[in-house]
Amino acid sequence: MRLLWFSLVFLGCIARGEAVVGFDSIEPMTVHAFQCLAQRGYSFYITRVYGIHVHTCPITGQCVDYNGINNIKAGRAAGWRDVDGYFWPCTWANCTDVKTQMKTTVEALSKAGAVIGTMWLDIEMDPEWSSDLNVNRQVVRDLVQQAQAMNVTVGIYTNNNSWGTIVGIDWAEFSSLPLWWPRYNDEQNFDTFIPFGGWTLPVMHQYLGDARGSCGVDDLDLDWYP
Ligand SMILES: *[C@@H]1O[C@H](CO)[C@@H](O)[C@H](O)[C@H]1NC(C)=O
Ligand SMILES: *[C@@H]1O[C@H](CO)[C@@H](O)[C@H](O)[C@H]1NC(C)=O
Ligand SMILES: *[C@@H]1O[C@H](CO)[C@@H](O)[C@H](O)[C@H]1NC(C)=O
Repeated sequence: MRLLWFSLVFLGCIARGEAVVGFDSIEPMTVHAFQCLAQRGYSFYITRVYGIHVHTCPITGQCVDYNGINNIKAGRAAGWRDVDGYFWPCTWANCTDVKTQMKTTVEALSKAGAVIGTMWLDIEMDPEWSSDLNVNRQVVRDLVQQAQAMNVTVGIYTNNNSWGTIVGIDWAEFSSLPLWWPRYNDEQNFDTFIPFGGWTLPVMHQYLGDARGSCGVDDLDLDWYP
């Protein structure tokens, strides 16, 4: 029965020429939840590994997301091969420099034995960035350089509004890095993408936010790549 079900899904994907659907979520997840979500057709996962909204971050300055790190391990244990992390830098005045933030995160992943494919830098206007584009460009540069120096593959998560406000819409220094593009239009395509930042196309589209979950996970953002 299960084999038949898989075959039907597989043939269905071919028939529609459909590509790959995955999700990102910050909820704590079990191995069983990943197994269940795989059966519902999801095949990749991205989670927060560092961020200002980690509950301990504003209180103690400890922004590594250990739920995310555990989730990565749970996903791997469930057999998921396409598992990434995203990094939401703290640009508050009371946070340590971003290179240290990145270093701490990569070390925490490594110590936990949590393996990610790509580390996505979450570039959006929360918290506030400097009004000086050059200051912000240096923050992005520092993050990319620190991650790459630790042999981490880096991508950028942003849209035109955030990128334009934070570093300038035409700043293309990192256009060779893959772009993960948030636009909640519920479409599994890049059709409405308007080039910015030197990117002619994203590699992945976050097409729906706060979608209804399943398998005991309440809140998923849905992602697609061709
Ligand atoms: C750091 O600054 C932010 C923004 O002003 C504030 O919300 C947060 O409570 C501060 N955290 C600490 C540990 O002082
Ligand atoms: C990164 O990879 C290079 C080449 O494989 C290696 O020489 C270097 O030690 C690695 N650096 C870290 C921090 O793992
Ligand atoms: C930003 O991109 C969206 C989607 O591609 C587009 O509809 C919008 O007009 C763009 N805004 C600016 C300021 O370029």
